[in-house]
Amino acid sequence: MAPGPLRRRKGPGGHADPPPVPCSPSSSSSSSLSCSSSSSSPRWSSGLTLYLVERRMGRSRRAFLSGLARAKGFRVDDAYSPAVTHVVMEHTSAAQAARWAQQQGGTQGGTQEGTQGGPPILLDITWFTDSMAAGRPVPVEGRHQLGVPLPSAEIGTDYSMPAYACQRRTPLNHHNPRLTEALETLAEAAALEGNEGRSLSFRRAASTLKALPGPLTRLSQLEGLPYCGAHSRGVIQEMLEDGASREADGVRQSDRFRAMKLFTQIFGVGVKTADGWYREGLRTLGDLRERGKKLTRMQEAGVRHYEDLKTPVELSDVEAVRRVVEEAVLQVLPGANITLTGGFRRGKRHGHDVDFLITHPEEGREAGILPNVMSCLESQGLVLYQHTQENHYCTPKAMAQPASRTNTMDAFERCFSILRVSRPSPGVASRGPPRDWKAVRVDLVVTPASQFPFALLGWTGSQHFERELRRFSRQERKLILNSHALYNPEKKTFLPAASEEEIFRHLGLEFIPPEERNA
Ligand code: UTP
Ligand code: MN
Repeated sequence: MAPGPLRRRKGPGGHADPPPVPCSPSSSSSSSLSCSSSSSSPRWSSGLTLYLVERRMGRSRRAFLSGLARAKGFRVDDAYSPAVTHVVMEHTSAAQAARWAQQQGGTQGGTQEGTQGGPPILLDITWFTDSMAAGRPVPVEGRHQLGVPLPSAEIGTDYSMPAYACQRRTPLNHHNPRLTEALETLAEAAALEGNEGRSLSFRRAASTLKALPGPLTRLSQLEGLPYCGAHSRGVIQEMLEDGASREADGVRQSDRFRAMKLFTQIFGVGVKTADGWYREGLRTLGDLRERGKKLTRMQEAGVRHYEDLKTPVELSDVEAVRRVVEEAVLQVLPGANITLTGGFRRGKRHGHDVDFLITHPEEGREAGILPNVMSCLESQGLVLYQHTQENHYCTPKAMAQPASRTNTMDAFERCFSILRVSRPSPGVASRGPPRDWKAVRVDLVVTPASQFPFALLGWTGSQHFERELRRFSRQERKLILNSHALYNPEKKTFLPAASEEEIFRHLGLEFIPPEERNA
């Protein structure tokens, strides 16, 4: 492959020479793609028009990549038009891609292979680099896609929405990203001030907008929607009229918000500690060092790996973590299962950490395995930090405690860690010499088989979806749900479940798949 900017980039397009993608007919959603084609006048090029978005990619790199693609027989248009079938973006999240599409006149990301006349498919640069390496367009896989199926619909006056987020479907890539970003900034700011009630109001409003079947364009469309209070409506109105919220912009630029965000982003630092530091006049990590602030072991690790930990974890990192964790777990406990959960199970392409559940079909065999799993990883030099917590049993008495009705902390054997994860291309670190690894936050949670469905449901999130599921259980069904069990406090009985589906059935809720729990 030609040398050039492609080799030096970090981020989603990071691998210099992507491995050739195997031709699997089942993974291809387009019959027009020919796996055997490698000639210079390829058959595939006919129905395919690429457009590379300059934003975040840069003008010179865009020009370079466009030239590269044309040399390989791809049709690349310099201007965006309805003829474009494949839109390629770099360093762009699904929400940003959706916003870009909206700005192009309501175009939503296509779901299948882009076809002429239909909406284009929104793709991450990884699809492009894979295709360049293969010398042909590779089949679009989930990891390439920035767009999720979004049938855009007009929100009519008779539109209604159920009150609880766990009663609705919320895709990752929704129709109102600009509005929800403003509301979520205000929610975050309120949480950083310790005002949970106010934060929840903004989160609920944002969550309502995420579940809408189309873009909100008029304030009157909020009629009949749950949890859009006066303050949130004001923010939405300003966004609709002026395209910006003065309040959200003000927060983002404020000294307080920036410092609080920076401090709470340190692993092991909560709002209280951050607030204390702010009141002492500290603003940066440098200030922490200069004042010789005493840090816990966890916070020290957080500061040491700060740059890495604030860089989003990518799908390739998730795979790398899975490989080493799975190997260690199976060495310690043959027959164990490890399951990816958290945001990545919901289809997120970037995350702040990687969450795994570990279980064994024979209940009891899983108990106490984490110290050995961690020793195994440590012996390979892969552990940068770890803190293991023993299982403390979840009893009927504990389930009935008022604390467990609101508390999201569970009682599983669990390890909070920072692992050293290999990356194929050097240059991950933004400071210091280039290196071929990155520090990644990994949570390992061990669950007995009988509690696995509850743990899976509880750890898949989103956090707001979980909060709503527990509130719905309590208020509408008089049942207590947590990551261990579903409990009926009146009858003092547990409701067992063998799958997530069964838990939804117990609650009388329609099953919502993980990809639609992005509330
Ligand atoms: P995360 O905080 O990892 O969030 O919790 P996420 O959705 O994966 O997104 P990222 O990591 O920021 O990208 C995952 C889920 O696990 C639950 C939370 O409710 C969340 O829904 N969780 C987390 C617990 O139940 N207990 C905990 O101690 C932490
Ligand atoms: Mn996570």
